[in-house]
Amino acid sequence: MAGPAELSARLVERLAEAGDIGPGWREPFDTVLRHRFIPDTVWVPEQDRLVPVRRGDDEDAWLELCYADDYVITQVDDGALSGHEVTSSASRPDVVAQMLTALQAEPGMSVLEIGTGTGWNAALLAERLGSGRVVSVEVDPALAGRARRVLREAGHRVTVVTGDGALGHRPAAPFDRVIATAAVKRVPPAWAAQTRPGGRVLVPWATDFHNGALVSFLVSGDGTMRGRIVGNVAFMLVREQRGKRVLLARDVRHEAQARESSTCLHPYDVLGEYDVSLAIGLKVPRCKPIVEHHGPGAYTLWLVDPWSGSWARLDHEPGAERFPVRQYGERDLWQEVADAHRWWDALGRPAAGRWGLTVTPDDQYVWLDAEEQRIG
Ligand SMILES: C[S@@+](CC[C@H](N)C(=O)[O-])C[C@H]1O[C@@H](n2cnc3c(N)ncnc32)[C@H](O)[C@@H]1O
Repeated sequence: MAGPAELSARLVERLAEAGDIGPGWREPFDTVLRHRFIPDTVWVPEQDRLVPVRRGDDEDAWLELCYADDYVITQVDDGALSGHEVTSSASRPDVVAQMLTALQAEPGMSVLEIGTGTGWNAALLAERLGSGRVVSVEVDPALAGRARRVLREAGHRVTVVTGDGALGHRPAAPFDRVIATAAVKRVPPAWAAQTRPGGRVLVPWATDFHNGALVSFLVSGDGTMRGRIVGNVAFMLVREQRGKRVLLARDVRHEAQARESSTCLHPYDVLGEYDVSLAIGLKVPRCKPIVEHHGPGAYTLWLVDPWSGSWARLDHEPGAERFPVRQYGERDLWQEVADAHRWWDALGRPAAGRWGLTVTPDDQYVWLDAEEQRIG
């Protein structure tokens, strides 16, 4: 099997060929080897759980994961030895490259990164922007400590702060750029407050229904920032905004008391395409979709509000044109989703790039095309 230098060169070539690496970023990608930042134990999905792959057991398998076109799971359940939930990862290389390009950062600028994780993204930033220009905040003390050490050993002078990235890092503010590598539903106003007027803040933004959209904000002098959706990215949520995890076995109760109806709106039409599921997420809060597969073409779309205990299920059978719906609880979740679909349709089915988000020191709101067209 090829060694790390060759695997890295091949990965960077693939990124370049796909057009993911923006001007000025090729050299950092050539120089900063991803495997140096990946811990010796990583995790891969196997059926419904995550299993470890240890470098010491199988160096080739580990190295292959380090240089695949995919994210690498580096921590589960906040550091537990076995787990179900990904709590840290090295992001997908194409997403990293696209986000660094979208950040529009130039050598000499100062950058605040939220979510240090492995430190790979921070190293790429430091390689391009220069020594001492990057501050990175990581909430998990073990991850922060490891990234601090690995960055130092690799020769990058990055300040790694252990703490809640939602607060930014006031001692080093103002920054020219802020880049979040964990998603938020509510965008912290501190990121605007700690960025120079005219600076940019790049944020993976999620709703309970849809994860997620990349928003590129421009900061104005009054602590407000406005931005549009510029990409389609899915990141884990920051620790404090994870909300409730849905467990069907726990959250779907009282099946016998469900209200029954049917619909001819296909489940794919509300969830299958990025533009529509993004729009539905803007309209239907506290609603998490889960698809449960039963066999070829047979599946259930669950909509669950774990806060109120409401749920809906829509069952899809291959070839069917009408689908049975069952709903329980104070909310008619399927109805809300179908209404949101109708609303999006009546608006002319706007694509993701037409939505914008404004964040003020004490509010956040979504608009279509122009800030005056605010949606409720
Ligand atoms: C997708 S990973 C980041 C990947 C990282 N940039 C890299 O290059 O490896 C998201 C990280 O955000 C961290 N995180 C979650 N909530 C946070 C918070 N409130 N403040 C700072 N970091 C947070 C997680 O612990 C995790 O390490």
